[in-house]
Amino acid sequence: MMPEEFRLLRDLINERAGLHFGDDSMFVFERRLGDRASALGLDGFAAYYKHLRFSPQGAEELELALEVLTTKETYFFRQEYQLRSFQQELLPRLAEANASQRRLNVWSAGCSTGEEVYTLAILILESGLFEGWDVHVIGSDLCRSNVAAGRRGVYRPSSFRTTTPLMRQRYFEERSDGTHVVERLKRFCHFGQVNLLDAERARTVGRVDVVFCRNVLIYFDERSRRKVIDTLYDRLVPGGYLLLGHSESLLHVSTAFELVHLKEDLVYRKPVSQPRGNSAPQRGRS
Ligand SMILES: C[S@@+](CC[C@H](N)C(=O)[O-])C[C@H]1O[C@@H](n2cnc3c(N)ncnc32)[C@H](O)[C@@H]1O
Repeated sequence: MMPEEFRLLRDLINERAGLHFGDDSMFVFERRLGDRASALGLDGFAAYYKHLRFSPQGAEELELALEVLTTKETYFFRQEYQLRSFQQELLPRLAEANASQRRLNVWSAGCSTGEEVYTLAILILESGLFEGWDVHVIGSDLCRSNVAAGRRGVYRPSSFRTTTPLMRQRYFEERSDGTHVVERLKRFCHFGQVNLLDAERARTVGRVDVVFCRNVLIYFDERSRRKVIDTLYDRLVPGGYLLLGHSESLLHVSTAFELVHLKEDLVYRKPVSQPRGNSAPQRGRS
């Protein structure tokens, strides 16, 4: 792969999905996209780039390119301290705030293969605060195969590296083809393909009380991060919460959110009332 070919492909991926790849990723591109170019019988990366950009099948191929370039790493009960904060501090607040509508909507934005979605659903069920409520946990991801895996809800041992035997016994069933999420959990989990750069598409998620967007924005450049955060802000109800991954923050990205100090974590909250004359989220430090 020539450096110029790498730059063209990298910029295209960044433009379409927000992902940022440094110069040291050239060999990753060469290996992973080289396989795609060969599969299509294309002669080299310049031809592959043209195919992605100009061919009628370009959009479909871009999906496959993104499949091989994205990091899908995830597992049940990831970042437990944050999940404890969600269960012990945020869920009781939400149970009180939403008591009249008896409705709770939680979104896992960039959910990979669905482990985060089912984890959140388990925490909601285990809290015992929402019995008889209209509860929806929505999982969305850029990659179609991840969305399909989430819908299927069948997992391998590596997904359970921090799952307690009790949770495993309560919410999963062992079958010959893998460990299945039980039906009573699946019932209120929904999956869809959403590119977080596409604000229109993100509207299909509806309004949500909480967004988990963890370990997604670390792979983005700053401009794309801002775009995504604006979209998440738009999808949250006033007073709704945003939870990022442990190495992520809104520093240099947005000042539109309030910072909420919980016992074990810092989370972001969309203000209940917008400051006068401020209809759009502010950017900068937070
Ligand atoms: C490392 S996984 C994080 C999964 C889960 N949130 C967690 O913390 O375990 C990152 C996910 O972000 C998704 N992703 C990357 N770019 C995206 C975009 N533009 N829109 C939606 N999802 C995206 C990837 O497909 C991948 O599944």
